[in-house]
Amino acid sequence: MTTLPVDDAAIAEAKRLRDAFQRFLREYEFGMREVETKISILRDEFTHLHAYNPIEHVKSRLKTPDSIVEKVARKGIDADFEVIRGEITDIAGVRVTCSFVTDVYLLFDLFTQQDDVTVRAVKDYIAEPKPNGYRSLHAIVEVPVFLSTGPVPIPVEVQFRTVAMDFWASLEHKIHYKFAGRVPAHLVQSLTEAAATAGELDVRMERLHREAHEINQRALQA
Ligand code: GTP
Ligand code: MG
Repeated sequence: MTTLPVDDAAIAEAKRLRDAFQRFLREYEFGMREVETKISILRDEFTHLHAYNPIEHVKSRLKTPDSIVEKVARKGIDADFEVIRGEITDIAGVRVTCSFVTDVYLLFDLFTQQDDVTVRAVKDYIAEPKPNGYRSLHAIVEVPVFLSTGPVPIPVEVQFRTVAMDFWASLEHKIHYKFAGRVPAHLVQSLTEAAATAGELDVRMERLHREAHEINQRALQA
């Protein structure tokens, strides 16, 4: 077995890289917090103004260093911070789960129309679901993070979906994981059918919600 020479310079270089990676990830954490704050302000303001909270829950996650390294290898890109920042846009992710489809689009509009939010890409898997039935509205945005050294634009992937879409996606994810991607055909078909059922539920729930609101409004006016 050969041993690698580990000299002081090599250790210093490894530490420098580790520190740079931590700083890089911290910027994404700040970007994620900016997005979380924007979403929670929208929720609070909306709740006060309309006595109605359009958001069920918000979940954020930062990609792990292992997962970033794996994606760099999979995409065949240079392991350079600026290249990674440009190419891997889901290092910071925020998922906004709403009650109804109209709330999904409302929140999306209110968020992406803000002056300091730059939209880099939008994927509307609600208007056009994936072949497996996956539905959600995705936006890759850039938000400025103000560091002591100046502002840095940080990409954040924001997913907007309903509770029904979220329920489906989390089960599909678990099944996909359980079978390491090789899901038996009959389960794939069942899942796709379940996605359509979830879509129908979204329509029914929203109709119910609107009817209840209208009855309430009429009672108030009477
Ligand atoms: P990734 O390289 O996996 O990030 O995919 P992409 O760059 O093609 O982007 P896409 O918008 O398709 O997916 C981004 C994210 O959406 C994923 O990381 C998941 O969180 C979610 N997603 C997309 N497709 C599916 C799906 O079929 N099932 C589930 N459960 N989640 C999905
Ligand atoms: Mg991803």
